[in-house]
Amino acid sequence: MPSKVRIIGGTPLQGKIRISGAKNAALPLMTASLLTDKPLTLSNVPNLADINSMAELLTQFGVSISSDKVEQVYTFKAETIQSTLAPYDIVNKMRASILVLGPLVARCGQAKVSLPGGCAIGTRPVDIHLKGLRDLGAEIEISEGYIIARAPSGLVGTSITMPLISVTGTENLMMAACLAKGETRLINAAREPEVIDLANCLIGMGAQIQGAGTDTITIQGVDSLNEHTHQVIPDRIETGTYAMASIITGGSLELTHTSLELIQSLSGVLHQAGIELQATENGIFVPAPSETIQGIDIMTEPFPGFATDLQAQVMALMAVCNGASMITETIFENRFMHVPELCRMGANITVHGASALVRGVKNLNGAPVMATDLRASVCLVLAALAARGETTISRVYHLDRGYERVEDKLRNCGATIERIDTI
Ligand code: UD1
Repeated sequence: MPSKVRIIGGTPLQGKIRISGAKNAALPLMTASLLTDKPLTLSNVPNLADINSMAELLTQFGVSISSDKVEQVYTFKAETIQSTLAPYDIVNKMRASILVLGPLVARCGQAKVSLPGGCAIGTRPVDIHLKGLRDLGAEIEISEGYIIARAPSGLVGTSITMPLISVTGTENLMMAACLAKGETRLINAAREPEVIDLANCLIGMGAQIQGAGTDTITIQGVDSLNEHTHQVIPDRIETGTYAMASIITGGSLELTHTSLELIQSLSGVLHQAGIELQATENGIFVPAPSETIQGIDIMTEPFPGFATDLQAQVMALMAVCNGASMITETIFENRFMHVPELCRMGANITVHGASALVRGVKNLNGAPVMATDLRASVCLVLAALAARGETTISRVYHLDRGYERVEDKLRNCGATIERIDTI
């Protein structure tokens, strides 16, 4: 049933929010289970629609999955792989499904994975994944919307220079290289914490990987990987989102089960805007702003730069800043779909190419708005929490893809927020 979220804004958030495990770490970790016939156990797995979609896809390959959703622990066992087909109807729902390609080809010597196609925030090609697999010796053809990859005699390590920094591209190739013959060097690799988390898990499974977290990752292929248990890192995007929710409402929050280290770039931006995040024993304290935050210029970049997945949220914050802010999006070409919706709530934002000029206004006002993608939907939640009056956000299924129990977490801190089912 389609649902909407209704928010009455204006209450400063107060209290504690427990940060969940990172969706973008959990998804590649789940696909790493395809690399071995032994069990892989993951803890701190968030309960999200994308996790369920990935579990559905893995089940279709014959992976047996047992889970304790309360404890958030999953065990995956890919003892035999019965199918190497990733169909369009699942891949289309979630682009991260492409992460099964590398592990399937490495383990089974073949895979047929639907091309993900475009999505709301841009065209998002997968050429880097395909070029890297070709470099490792796979034959790849595209037929009827599917990637058909074959490497009957196995993959062979080599040096791969990625023309652009790609997070899932790096993860896919790192996983594939674990079972390739000889040494693989991934040059111009992504340095995101989720890449490091995946490398740490693979190392725990017996892979030989060096350099994760730098721009060159070296992998010595091994014959097989072993049983392992791994804890998913905290979600840095959820962490940053709630930090900004706190600030935009003029509240103060303690974020637990996370760390300031994970959001250094956001913390630097907030420092310039006049907010000093503080590290606590188990997370972060977000103090109440003593005055209106200052407008500052922000540019999205690959890690350790400012995350594109926090761009929409920081724009909501800057919409009520003192002065103006220029926000430049360098990762995705169409990631300003939240702008017209924010403007419907009274924001003053104009887009010039890849930059948005945000002139701060004193107040936002509640309005009916529509979510267009995952991060845009949460940006509207932030704006609504700060706005005067009532906001209803439609198409909130986007929210469920990446934010666990968002209404509960916010309601527990004083927000007036509820989900309403519509027919
Ligand atoms: C991952 C994240 C996503 C985040 C993004 C950028 C996961 C599951 N998703 O997505 O939340 O917004 O990183 O931080 O971790 N590109 C190509 N060819 C390719 C691959 C990418 O041109 O083969 C381009 C993309 O269009 C984009 C840029 O490279 O412009 C970066 O994309 P990439 O890092 O690959 O994003 P994802 O891994 O899909």
